[in-house]
Amino acid sequence: MCGIVGYLGSQSAAPILIKGLHQLEYRGYDSAGIALNCESESSFQLFKAKGKVSNLESIIPDEVKMRDNMPVAGIGHTRWATHGEPSTANAHPHLSMSGEVVLVHNGIIENYKELKDQLIDRGYTFQSQTDTEVLCNLVDLYYQQNGKNLRLAVVQALNKAIGAYAIAVMEQKDNQHIVCARKASPLVIGISEGNDEFFIGSDATPMVEYTHKVIYLDDEQVADVRLGHEVEIVNLDQSLAEFDVKEVDLDITALTKGGFPHFMIKEIFDQPHCLENCMRGRVVRLDDGTYDIKLSALHNFKAKLIRARHVIIVACGTSWHAGLIGKQLIEEMCRIRVEVEYASEFRYRNPVIEKDDVVIAISQSGETADTLAAIQLAKEKGALVFGIVNGVGSSIARAADTGIYIHVGPEIGVASTKAFTGQVTVLTMLALALGHALGTISEEYFQQTCHELTQIPLKMEKVLQQNDAICLLSTPFTFARNFLYLGRGYNYPVALEGALKLKEISYIHAEGYPAAEMKHGPIALVDAEMPIVFLATHHELYQKIISNMQEVQSRKGRIIAVVTEGDQEISKIAQATIEIPATLNALVPLLSVLPMQMLAYHVAVKKGLNVDMPRNLAKSVTVE
Ligand code: M6R
Repeated sequence: MCGIVGYLGSQSAAPILIKGLHQLEYRGYDSAGIALNCESESSFQLFKAKGKVSNLESIIPDEVKMRDNMPVAGIGHTRWATHGEPSTANAHPHLSMSGEVVLVHNGIIENYKELKDQLIDRGYTFQSQTDTEVLCNLVDLYYQQNGKNLRLAVVQALNKAIGAYAIAVMEQKDNQHIVCARKASPLVIGISEGNDEFFIGSDATPMVEYTHKVIYLDDEQVADVRLGHEVEIVNLDQSLAEFDVKEVDLDITALTKGGFPHFMIKEIFDQPHCLENCMRGRVVRLDDGTYDIKLSALHNFKAKLIRARHVIIVACGTSWHAGLIGKQLIEEMCRIRVEVEYASEFRYRNPVIEKDDVVIAISQSGETADTLAAIQLAKEKGALVFGIVNGVGSSIARAADTGIYIHVGPEIGVASTKAFTGQVTVLTMLALALGHALGTISEEYFQQTCHELTQIPLKMEKVLQQNDAICLLSTPFTFARNFLYLGRGYNYPVALEGALKLKEISYIHAEGYPAAEMKHGPIALVDAEMPIVFLATHHELYQKIISNMQEVQSRKGRIIAVVTEGDQEISKIAQATIEIPATLNALVPLLSVLPMQMLAYHVAVKKGLNVDMPRNLAKSVTVE
């Protein structure tokens, strides 16, 4: 939920840390801070500010930003509050009472109250309401007791802490040293080509500009990062841990807005290209003009996947909505029973999981704590865990037995857009390939659907061309207080996703329903004030959706309808229509979700809201 950065080297640390914090700001943005440890200073230099990283940037003096050519250690943090309100006092880094240890933390220390009482008994006092300051003083306690060995103090403190953490810690006496650790929260260490600079980050984005050599820390590992030395990693029992230095391959252009006013709209427009990347080398046109789907994960685990009689999809938020589409795809094409579970519920309800079951975990970030815990449970019960993940090298990607990356590039906007269509594309390829192998779909169906899938990026371009029209039609709806989203079949999860997008970034209350459920309750809400978005593309239930619309029309509800290109009937009923090109029913969500994303975006922008960083949200939810 929070973003951590660190730097060790001879460049000016403050600008590197600030830039890194900007890149990680999507993880949390209610306060930010940095701590510097320079030779020329007798104590840490600490800067903190409430609100965005730009507020922090404005309080750092130029002479600190421009300091160069001397070894310096620095750590920084952008926060998403868990314990204590967003304030400067609660912002990280936290300094220990002795002033000798400073620490940043992402996660939650669950037994912090008990630890705090023990520290108070030993004379420690606290300046903030955070669990992090407790952890910092706990490290300080052991540091004072063990002859000022920072790594040992961190190991000792973490052995007492219950919960989740990624931390970076510095000691005042050594400005060439940072200790960091993780458990259930990601942490990456970057090493410069010359081995003379180190970078620390919650993910690799802040360091790709400087190096592609990275170490992904594993759970319960503590890393000693020291200028002039190789990185050393130990486990919590102090035994030396083995690790690999990996090459990270991140496209730096994906981290900029590329001329768009916000990341969200850039990512919406990225989707045709992202889906081409997602399908590249996977949906393959053979020399004879027919299609095949090549998924190495499927190839390697074919026997187990073919044997599966039961699939359980676990995910949260938008990824859960993609899972609902995955259920329909797999059931339709493979005739295998599929359940879709909120990962947060699944992990706590003793679910029935058999050895031959396959658990599909879907996650953009690959770091969602609830989804990770669900995976652990599935593995304990002996199920095969199949990950559908965007974050390369992320915790979920590493925890899964096998899986497929969606390869849509870093998603920065907090509201997920291109990850959703990437996830649905992967689920479609998986269902098609599995159905083909099982013989539950005909060759003709397989060929036709593969072909149509390859046409989706082009058709997406046509939907995106309506951006200006959607912007225009959104104006009267910016004043709405509630929205209803209705769809059936494959469009029902899209209705849920449309409602979530609007809620997240415009703060307008919205609910998604299967259209036919409207008469079982939600219709009571319908009046002249209520906008209702209907996903009314052509499929076998089209006439029934029109009946639902007429029910709304007779109650004066305002209808926005997403229809199939050329539709003549619905424009007579709806106040506004958005056309999408015709496609196969199973592929409709890949097109019908785009107007949902654009509508939410324009309503939020017109309300003057920060669409990339909506209030109270964080991009990656690494706490329960
Ligand atoms: O990274 P994940 O896909 O695991 O994240 C799951 C949800 O937190 C995420 O989809 C969230 O709902 C988004 N903000 C939706 O836009």
